[in-house]
Amino acid sequence: MSRTLAILGGKPLFDEPMHVGRPNLPDRRHFDKLVDTMFSNRWFTNYGPLVKILQARLEERLRVKHCIPICNGTVALELAYRAAGFHGEVIVPAFTFVATAHALEWQRIKPVFCDIRESDFTLDPSCVEELITDRTTGIVGVHVFGNPCDHRSIAETAGRHGLGVVYDAAHAFMNETDGMSVCSLGSMSILSFHATKFFSTFEGGAIVTDDDDLAEKIRLMMNFGFAGREKDRVDYIGINGKMTEICAAMGLAMLEQVDRLAEINRINFEAYLEALEGIPGIACRTPSPALSARNWQYVVATVDEESFGLSRDSLVEVLEAENVLARKYFYPGCHRHEPYCRTFPGSGRELPVTDRLSEMVMCLPTGEAVTPAMARMIGDSIRLAGVRAGEVRAALKEGGHA
Ligand SMILES: Cc1ncc(COP(=O)(O)O)c(C=O)c1O
Repeated sequence: MSRTLAILGGKPLFDEPMHVGRPNLPDRRHFDKLVDTMFSNRWFTNYGPLVKILQARLEERLRVKHCIPICNGTVALELAYRAAGFHGEVIVPAFTFVATAHALEWQRIKPVFCDIRESDFTLDPSCVEELITDRTTGIVGVHVFGNPCDHRSIAETAGRHGLGVVYDAAHAFMNETDGMSVCSLGSMSILSFHATKFFSTFEGGAIVTDDDDLAEKIRLMMNFGFAGREKDRVDYIGINGKMTEICAAMGLAMLEQVDRLAEINRINFEAYLEALEGIPGIACRTPSPALSARNWQYVVATVDEESFGLSRDSLVEVLEAENVLARKYFYPGCHRHEPYCRTFPGSGRELPVTDRLSEMVMCLPTGEAVTPAMARMIGDSIRLAGVRAGEVRAALKEGGHA
């Protein structure tokens, strides 16, 4: 506990910046071999052999009927919303990455922002009903930090009002609940395989569904509307949502690593949990108890300024000086971002839980670039920042920060 804080003039905890979402790496020899295969195939995109293998492996691994590889998670959202027939208004949480809402607005669908549950950051089903109007066509749930939404309540409300449900499962790769993959909930889910995600294909994503008709429709939509093998027949005004072979090669190589990476994340999480234990005002948020398997990708902590002595923003600055780049996921809520405030003035006033949690939450680095010893050091420096909160506040003020 004698370690000096960098914000108070000490040496930073780490020489190199430690990022949240620093990419995990595949076995290079395995990846290089797949790249050699790709070059000898001379097949780089258009549903090539590596994409086909990746699709089959993902379907097997996630125990789902269709897992259609897509160029990224945002395009997957756009395709899923359109395939679900969404138009008019769609209810969506504001506590999410902006792409969940942008993909609606991009198709001129009005996102109607809904509040979340304190316990797990997911859509609060009890707030959905009052937002339903005669223009509402769907509900989007986001399994934030991999925590599964209350899918039964959402399905019940959606069923009563004849609404479609799409889940954004970008954080939930490999997570399981009620004996099934979280990404198999609802009629359709999307995944993101962005480099910062637990499972990565550089850029990439997928749409998961058990519905053969929906899968066929998505395959048509994501390939310019070309009908099956008939290259000259267009049946739909589609877009280009295809995953490339190089991305599939990365995916195949990364798939071999996921169990190892989940275990690394779990051990890091335990180290953080122990190191943050008992710090007044700091809560390390454990993944939802509804999960029976998890990727442990998100180390989420909330900062209660009154008890801790520093705001979340000040603590993030303290950590930055230590070369620990914590992220404010998700701050602000989508409803507070300029384009949404402008388009839907006042829409944010009724999201008290989103507003409060987005001011308190931060994610800490994990993954294979972080060791449990590092997690403990980060925990210790958070503890020290609380103990010396008065000095830290004065230093931040002097530096023009607070
Ligand atoms: C919850 C959520 N939804 C959607 C996306 C968008 O995915 P992508 O970056 O692959 O387009 C992300 C992250 O990037 C995300 O975190």
